[in-house]
Amino acid sequence: MPARPCERHSVPDVADWQRLEVALAPGEKRVVLVDGREILVARTSDRYFALTSRCTHAAWPLADEPIEGSQIVCTLHGARFDLRDGCPVSGPARKPLKTYPIELRDGELYVSLER
Ligand code: FES
Repeated sequence: MPARPCERHSVPDVADWQRLEVALAPGEKRVVLVDGREILVARTSDRYFALTSRCTHAAWPLADEPIEGSQIVCTLHGARFDLRDGCPVSGPARKPLKTYPIELRDGELYVSLER
């Protein structure tokens, strides 16, 4: 089976992390602006995710799209992406969503756009 076109990231320097002004309950998501970039922040039952906010197929905004398990569904044409690595699980999208490191520290969310 060929490898999926996933992005992998290294651990960013401490100085690269930025605190997010967002609080999410499990199952919620929101688009936040970080350094001029729209980042989709999502929380599932067990962790947080940070990804680019538009589908890689035709740039449909993902802010209001459903999350099913560890996948987000773009309902415009049906593409699904794995939140963990941004990889398309089903088409028509072929390119992965960019993912960003995100951490919860003392109740505050931090994201790094550097890598
Ligand atoms: S814009 Fe998302 S699947 Fe087409």
